[in-house]
Amino acid sequence: MLTTLRPKVTAIIGNDQKSNTEKMQAICELLKENVPYYNWVGFYFKNGDKDELKLGPYAGAPTDHTIIPFGKGICGQVAVSNKNFVVPDVQAQDNYIACSITVKAEIVVPLFLNGENIGQIDIDSDTPDPFSPEDERFLEYVNQEVAKIL
Ligand code: SME
Repeated sequence: MLTTLRPKVTAIIGNDQKSNTEKMQAICELLKENVPYYNWVGFYFKNGDKDELKLGPYAGAPTDHTIIPFGKGICGQVAVSNKNFVVPDVQAQDNYIACSITVKAEIVVPLFLNGENIGQIDIDSDTPDPFSPEDERFLEYVNQEVAKIL
């Protein structure tokens, strides 16, 4: 399933009719609509020269967490660690920012531009423990494609 989405992501990136924001928005919607256990999909980016993340394009319920300080929550930890963070059970995490009571699991994968961690893709799932290394490889691919237009 994830493999078949790769060419669709690439096609969105190459679509000259869309702005970069529209491309990222379309990718969020593509992922949310086609992967049953992806219930909220969004991009966060470093907010200028501040040590905080700012919400970018997303698909799913609106969130109050449009600004996340570095180090806070799963997203803020990835901003500092530069590493993928797979959370099979969000209730087992101390440093976690709850967006919705329906969320059971989360995956955050950093987005690198010229080797620098400039943002991330964040996925919330209402399914417990749904993510595998296949999701990590797929989301790394998505971020590499997005980095080409940034
Ligand atoms: N749960 C995230 C906050 C962002 S929402 O999932 C959209 C976190 O702990 O960083």
